[in-house]
This record gives sequence, structure tokens and C-alpha cells, in this order.
Amino acid sequence: MSAHQQTAASPFIRACRREPVPHTPVWFMRQAGRSLPEYLKAREGIPMLESCTRPDLITEITLQPVRRHKVDAAVYFSDIVVPLKAIGLDLDIKPGVGPVVADPIRTREDLKRLRPLEPGDVPYVTEAVGQLAAELGSTPLIGFAGAPFTLASYLVEGGPSRNHERTKALMYGEPELWRDLLDRLADITTAFLKVQIEAGASAVQVFDSWVGALAPADYRRYVMPSSVKVFDAVADYGVPRIHFGVGTGELLGLMGEAGADVVGVDWRVPLDEAGRRVGPGKALQGNLDPAVLFAPTPAVEAKTREVLAAAPATGHIFNLGHGVLPTTDPDALTRLVDFVHRSTQV
Ligand code: CP3
Repeated sequence: MSAHQQTAASPFIRACRREPVPHTPVWFMRQAGRSLPEYLKAREGIPMLESCTRPDLITEITLQPVRRHKVDAAVYFSDIVVPLKAIGLDLDIKPGVGPVVADPIRTREDLKRLRPLEPGDVPYVTEAVGQLAAELGSTPLIGFAGAPFTLASYLVEGGPSRNHERTKALMYGEPELWRDLLDRLADITTAFLKVQIEAGASAVQVFDSWVGALAPADYRRYVMPSSVKVFDAVADYGVPRIHFGVGTGELLGLMGEAGADVVGVDWRVPLDEAGRRVGPGKALQGNLDPAVLFAPTPAVEAKTREVLAAAPATGHIFNLGHGVLPTTDPDALTRLVDFVHRSTQV
């Protein structure tokens, strides 16, 4: 039986398809990582991007939160910049900072450095996903990639950015170059997702983390075509496609329209309102504020009940509204998984 068949009856996959579930499935963005002591131990002395090229380490780190928290899905341990590194760009992930690009992409000449990604560029992904699908059995593995806009932001700015000024200057000032940049990134993102799906990932999430910086008309004009290209290119696999960004309240309808099966929602828009914006036919994922986990347990439970009360009757995947914050108490996450499962059991 293929990995996709083995996970089809899992609560996570059923919820993505808006089918009834025995309990609301839960996973957390950034569930693998610095909130876990076993992660810090496994990563000791190994730079982030190097750790993303070691199949045994990837497998171990991906499984850690599944074992500890009993989440309903694993998320592949990697980073959105891994495919860019794999095609030869000189970039690194600086601890506490994020991705930093030595030589930013700003001209037509620079575009030539964005060559297509071949499966042979990331053999460790194929190997690790294969190991994981075998280990996980009926628990789904979520593969992921960065969306073209969010990747472009790192490449054009040269690192993390609050205002994305160089990115927007290129987008508004040189729309043809911008379109070609996003088109190349769409192909790289698609190739990276395909490698993961073909090796056994049961669902994929496209992270457009920073696209909330755009107004809807600009999203539609400058970004949506490249995201549509990505979702269309992986549609035939039939695995659920999740689309997530932060601060995207005004973009939720368009992000659904771009082709996702599931739209991720941050904590700023309640799920019932998000459902109205996204429209029918899509599942929703979210949306507890990750900072709520720093409050006492009764407050976490009260805020969780609010999320569950606003969630659709079918087609809800519980998650945080963004990634787990590094200083989160892991026990608070374990309790939260259990609380959601108990509160939604039918
Ligand atoms: O558990 C998981 O969710 C899977 C692993 C994962 C990582 N990065 C590992 C990581 C995922 C899904 C990502 C995606 C990612 N990377 C995004 C989209 C998600 C989001 O948060 O919106 C973005 C924007 C990046 C870029 C990036 N990489 C940032 C902003 C950082 C944090 C920098 C820091 O140190 O504060 C990284 C580094 C990173 N990616 C770490 C991990 C576990 C931390 C590295 C470490 O342990 O030192």
C-alpha cells in the first residue's frame, strides 16, 4: 500500500477533505524545533542548513513532536530556503535572525542564478521522506515549500525584512523582471513539492508567510499567478494542498482562489469570519495565537474553546495562527493536543 493510501483514513487527511472525523486533528507549524530539548540535543554543533541534508537527523527531528505531543500529522523538517541552497545560491540561516543571502537577486542578470531544481539536487529529501513515510504508517507527513512571494522577499532583500521595501520597489518598478522572478520561483517550489509527494508526503503546505504585506489588488496582480501555477502543478497528485500566510485577513478569499484545498488562518480573524471570506468548498486550518500558550492552562483552554466554537463543523484542522514560539513550554503543547482531542471527540 502506498503512503497516500495508508493515511487516507487519518483524521488529518479526512478533515482536509471536509469529511467527518472522530476528533479534530491537530498539528503545529514549527512543532519540530527549538521548543523541544530533544531537538536542541540532536542539533548540537550542526548548522541548521547542514541538518536539513542529513536523512537520519531529519527523520529523528520530524518524529520527535509526533512521539511527544501525539499530534495528528508530522511536518517534514527542512526550511523554505533549502531548495534555493540546493540550486547553488550562497545563503545561510543565521540563528536568531533567519535566512541571509550573500548576493541578493535584483537584476535580470541575477535571475540566471535561479536555475531549475532537479530531484537529483535534493537526494536527502527523497531518502528522508521515504524513511518517514515508512516509520509513520497511518500518520500523515506534511511536505512544504515557500511560496514565490515569500522566497522572493528573502532573495531580493538579502535577509529578513520588516517592510519589504526592495521587494516592493522591484515589484512596482520592474513588473516584467518581477514576473519572471516569481515564475522561476514557482517552478522551484513546484519541483520541491513534487519530490516530497513522490517520496511519500501525504499533504503539502505552501508557506506565503509574508504576503500579508500586500493589498488584495496587488496580490491578485503581482503574486497570485505564480501561486496558482504552483497549486495547479501539483493538483493531479490528489494530495491536500494547504496555503498559509500571516496577516492575510484581507487576502483569504484570493488565497483560496489560488487553488488550495485548505486555507491557513492566523489568529487575527475568527474562523467563522475566515470561512465567509474563503467561501465554500475549502477546509480551514488554525488559529490559536501562539502567544496564548504562555498563559495559565485554564486561559489556554478558554481561548482554545473559542477557536473550536468558531470552527466549521467539518473541515477544520486545529493549529496555531503561526509557528510555535521558541520559548514555549513543550508540556503546554502536549496538553493542548489532548484538550482539542477530548473536546471534539464524537
Ligand atoms: O516544524 C516545522 O514546522 C518544520 C520545520 C520548518 C522550519 N522552517 C525549520 C526551522 C518550517 C516549516 C520552516 C518554514 C519557514 N522558514 C518559514 C515559513 C514558516 C513561518 O514561520 O512563517 C520561514 C519564513 C522560514 C525562514 C526562517 N528559517 C526563519 C524566519 C527562521 C528563524 C530564524 C531564527 O532563528 O529565529 C528560520 C530558521 C529555522 N527554520 C529554524 C528551524 C527549526 C531555527 C533554526 C535553529 O534551530 O537554530
